[in-house]
Amino acid sequence: MSVSPLPLVLHADGSSAPDRALGLAQALNIPLAAAPPAEGLLLRLTSEHLELRKLGDPALPGALWVDFNRPAARRRLLHPGEELLTQAAKVRNAAQPLLIDAAAGLGRDGFLLAASGFRVLMFECNPVVAALLSDGLQRAARIVELADIAARMRLTTANALDRLPALAEQPDVIYLDPMFPERSKTAKVKQDLQLLQLLDQKSEPPEQLLFAALKVQAKKVVVKRPLKGPFLGERVPSYSLRGKAVRFDVYVGSGKKRESP
Ligand SMILES: C[S@@+](CC[C@H](N)C(=O)[O-])C[C@H]1O[C@@H](n2cnc3c(N)ncnc32)[C@H](O)[C@@H]1O
Repeated sequence: MSVSPLPLVLHADGSSAPDRALGLAQALNIPLAAAPPAEGLLLRLTSEHLELRKLGDPALPGALWVDFNRPAARRRLLHPGEELLTQAAKVRNAAQPLLIDAAAGLGRDGFLLAASGFRVLMFECNPVVAALLSDGLQRAARIVELADIAARMRLTTANALDRLPALAEQPDVIYLDPMFPERSKTAKVKQDLQLLQLLDQKSEPPEQLLFAALKVQAKKVVVKRPLKGPFLGERVPSYSLRGKAVRFDVYVGSGKKRESP
């Protein structure tokens, strides 16, 4: 897939590792610019992190990077079991349950699920989003209080539709949060979401993900939905947990891998 409908280049600050910059530009198949351009999308590698910016747009002055150590992110980790998502994903009688986060995005939900004890295997189909997430995970692995959580997480840049039918290990839970909210320029949509929406989010219809996930016969498939949104693919869940803004639809499965005929 293309990574962005806007021109996208990588620029590395003088203080960042040149080999890493070259490797990233090659992996993402984007130009490595000697200087930031006047406009377009910029992936900027600094000595601290990898960030995404839109240049030449005063309405979007900020940068987006993944930081699991932000106070808001750390607060969410204090009592992971109290979050609606972890309650929806919870399974009994599994020592180190495996959860597949099939639409990882920036990994916020995945990190919370790993903090609650899951081993989390993440698929993210947009290579730029995956690069931002991978960068955040590498930094989390170096922070003493977050290292154990990051160690339970694995990221693969791939379309989950290709990977779900061929999993090496039967997962306990599959989690799906495939859709960004509607494109909107209102102030309500946070800057980081607006930046993400500039990347190519094209993928197969999200209901295909649910259908592929249900075939795996995990103990549960959990789908994040807008509170009043319709059921994904019109499939009625076993039950739903409702929060203030979102709902988690839970589809209970047999938990037993089907033998191929
Ligand atoms: C709403 S975001 C997920 C946000 C995530 N739950 C978080 O906490 O940061 C949806 C992500 O799913 C990815 N995605 C959509 N369909 C996918 C697929 N079939 N395979 C892998 N990733 C997919 C998109 O590229 C996007 O980054």
